[in-house]
Formats: sequence, C-alpha cells, structure tokens
Amino acid sequence: MNGESKDSAPTPSFVSKNQLVFDKIPIVDWAVSESDPAIFYEQLRSAFEDVGFGMFINVPGFDDEFQQKIFAHADQLYSKPQAWKDAISTAKSNALRGYFRGDDIAGDNKAHSEGYRFGTELPVPVAQGDEEIPFYRKLQEGPNQWPAEADMPGFRLAIETLFERYISLNLKLNKHICTLLDIPEAVLDEYYTDFVDFTSVIWHYLPLTPEMQATAKNGFVKGMHEHRDPSTLYNCLIQSRPGLQVQNHAGEWIDVPLVKGGVVCNIGLQLMKLTGGKFVATTHRVNTLKIDKDRYTIPYAFSTRLEKPVLPLPKFVGGDAAKYHVPPNPKIVRLLSIENPLVRGGYARLTLFPAASKKLYPKEWAEAKEMGIL
Ligand SMILES: [Fe+2]
Repeated sequence: MNGESKDSAPTPSFVSKNQLVFDKIPIVDWAVSESDPAIFYEQLRSAFEDVGFGMFINVPGFDDEFQQKIFAHADQLYSKPQAWKDAISTAKSNALRGYFRGDDIAGDNKAHSEGYRFGTELPVPVAQGDEEIPFYRKLQEGPNQWPAEADMPGFRLAIETLFERYISLNLKLNKHICTLLDIPEAVLDEYYTDFVDFTSVIWHYLPLTPEMQATAKNGFVKGMHEHRDPSTLYNCLIQSRPGLQVQNHAGEWIDVPLVKGGVVCNIGLQLMKLTGGKFVATTHRVNTLKIDKDRYTIPYAFSTRLEKPVLPLPKFVGGDAAKYHVPPNPKIVRLLSIENPLVRGGYARLTLFPAASKKLYPKEWAEAKEMGIL
C-alpha cells in the first residue's frame, strides 16, 4: 500500500539494531504450521523480526490457479475503454471506492499506474437528526462501485472470494503472531472493529515509456516511491510479476521474487510500534524498471480501529521502535499533530486521492492545504 512518503532531506530508512542484513525475503511455509510448528515459527520470526517481509507459500485458497483467475479478471477490467473506467471513478464515490489513476497522486507516490479501490461494503452513513456526518465517516463508509455483471461476468464473485480468503489468512496470521509474541489473542482483537473493516486495491502498473526509462536515477524510475506502511498492523498482497523491492538494513534494495501461489505479507509501522520494534516495518518500493510488461498487485489491509491509540504493549515498553523510527517529513509531522485520530485518518486518506478529494471534499481539501498537510 502506499503511505509514508519522504520528500524531506534523505534519512536512513534502515535501522541499526544488530539485525540481520538480509539478502533475500524469507519463505514462510504455511503447510508446516501444524506439522512442524517449531520450523514454522522460526520462519515467521525471521520474516517479521529480521526482515519485515515474508513470502508465504501453501496458504489455503491462494494457489497459483486461483491467483491467475484473479489476474485474468484484472486484465479484462483494465482493457476496458478509458470512458468505461472513468464511469466508476473514485470521484463518484464519497468513500473513494472505484477507479483512479496513479498519475494523479501528488509527490513521491505518483506512479505510472491505475487502480481500483475497494473497502468494506457498507451503506452510505445517514445523519442522526440534525447532526452533521463528519467527513472521515463519509470517507470510511459506503458501498463499492462494482461494474455491471453483464460487462464483467464473474468479476464481483471472484474479487469477493479473494477478500474472504484474505480475511481468513489475516485472522489465522493474527493468532500465529500472538503465539510468536507470547501475548493473548484478545490483545490484538481489541484493535479491530466488530465488523471486518478492510481496504484493498487492484493496482495495475503500466509499462514505462522510453522517455520515462530515460529518467532513471540510481536504477529507479518513479513507481511507488520508497515508503513504509504507516497505518496498518501488516499488509498482505498477491502479485502477477516482480517489481517490489525491500531495503535491507544496510540500505541495499532486495528484489521480492515472484513465487507462484505466494502471498507477500509485511509489517506496518503500527505493529512495529506495538511490539516496541521487535517486528520491523521495512522500507519498500515498486521499481517499474523491473517490469517488462504490466504488473498487477492486489494488497489487502485488515484495518484496525482508527480511534484506538497504538502504543507499545506493556511487555515491549522500552523497546526501540520510537528510537529507530525514521523522522517523518514536515507534512507528516503536521498531519500527526492533529489530535483526533479519526480526523487525522480522514485527512491522510484525502491526500492519497487528490483528484477525487478536491472534487468531493473541497472544504476539507482547502483546510488541509491551509494546514500544510498537502
Ligand atoms: Fe506499501
């Protein structure tokens, strides 16, 4: 997922806490989670403590055949005419669901890409009496924009099946994380809402033009710029081609390989904070120079309750998460200074979808500009 950008002076995005300077992404074999838990938990520990990323294989429901069907639906979706895609634009959804262009994203996260954003299927929030609905609720709650079944036969069913499989993976992974951290499962449960709240995007990275390739600096052309995932405990994703890179603790970029039937899961800053730095949120990017053809990736984030503050758990107080946290850029500092986490989350979301947000939320957009968040 895109997130914490870094447009200030360069800061080391790696940590120096005697961690392994990894040169590959650990494999976590779900098949041994029951047959050989000791091996499984060592793989999981290495993925989340040493690297911050794991390539999960043999995850039930994520076999290569299923993933290829999903990518075939993505192919069909993105080969529709631009006018068809614009008809389901995020600019037509108060909850910013639907189609958008990555070229519209301001700053470092601008990417030669298009995307289709989904979230939990909820009704449009209705005001109680005269009470005005706060903008962050409108941004959070609403229906998805599904294409007409006649236009995209089987698309909705396939994508909703993917989401069900993702949540099943997330719920099981939460249990494994609790076992690994030796904390009660209820501790993580408290961070989630009563219903499954999630965000997902079908990203479509487009092949670079020769002009774009000519802008390469240090082996990188603007794709999804380097960042760490700011607002989630962790994310999981499937991908159709390589292109994702992770920065090791010596500052070198390590390719995330394409493993058939694999699911990549990575730690977000919130889980890093919760564990006092025991788990690491690692800087990553999409290097479009690595993509010879277009690339699909579908990340899924099981969202936590925005209003619940994330602080190191008692057993991890004194950890070094805060110490090694990369200083955020001034815009992020101003964003973080907003006290109400719901309002803060709302502004953060606006910044990710500038084209739609300017149109749908002109008042809040102007306020964000005034505050120097944008
Ligand atoms: Fe990300």
